[in-house]
Amino acid sequence: MTDLVVRRLLIDMDAPIARHWCAGDAFRTALFNALSMSFPVGEQFFMDSVRNGFKALLPEQQEQFRGEVQGFVGQEATHRRLHALYNGHLERLGLVNAWDARARERLKMLEGQDVRHWVAITAANEHFTAILADFLLHNPDLLGNEDPRLVTLWLWHSAEESEHKCTAFDLYQALGGTHEWRIKWMKRITTIFLLDTLRQTVLNLKNDGTLWKWSTWRSAASYLFGKRGLVRLTYRPWRDYFRRDFHPRQQDSSSSQRWLAEHANQYVPVGA
Ligand SMILES: [Fe+2]
Ligand SMILES: [Fe+2]
Repeated sequence: MTDLVVRRLLIDMDAPIARHWCAGDAFRTALFNALSMSFPVGEQFFMDSVRNGFKALLPEQQEQFRGEVQGFVGQEATHRRLHALYNGHLERLGLVNAWDARARERLKMLEGQDVRHWVAITAANEHFTAILADFLLHNPDLLGNEDPRLVTLWLWHSAEESEHKCTAFDLYQALGGTHEWRIKWMKRITTIFLLDTLRQTVLNLKNDGTLWKWSTWRSAASYLFGKRGLVRLTYRPWRDYFRRDFHPRQQDSSSSQRWLAEHANQYVPVGA
């Protein structure tokens, strides 16, 4: 089991967010903002899934998972709270969060369904966040340096996503979840996640008035498909999930440990 520390980040979320906080780049800003918009509803769902999955375990299994589940819920709750503040600033900039309502509507379909479906969906999403986190921790300069507070927020969130990437996966296995359903959900979540990200990014650019600028599309092409492109560098780790013997632990998380060790002055462990 992983020892998960809940950390209070020492950043000021009261100060407003600049329109193009990410390296002055409209596309990258819109993409990160879109992801931030998905977190309050998404991370609430992950917490509910993991809590309900934990309750469905046998008592002796619960003992094994108790500390890790607590840490997972504590970390996601902290992410959720800071991203809700972040999103409040985006609203004041005139951006509209359409992802949240769409996700809430979709989640209604899961009510009353076997908890293993919830946990499989969470594990698939957590794989996405873990590979995106690793990408970001290896390429922190892509966040620019215009707003060091947001750079810290994204890298801290990334470090913790990488740190707790096994929780939902292990819980799914402990609940007797099958490989077939794990794969089925990953395929569905891939489509949903990519479409939602695309739709919200486009909407953010539209509301920002930068959707039809040549510089936006040039940035999108290089940031997604260039030499250090997001799609190019995350394709292989994404595909690994489909292997029967896959476990999130097989993917390196040293960049997360390194960031946490080197930035210990930017957070306070809670309850320590
Ligand atoms: Fe998170
Ligand atoms: Fe997570």
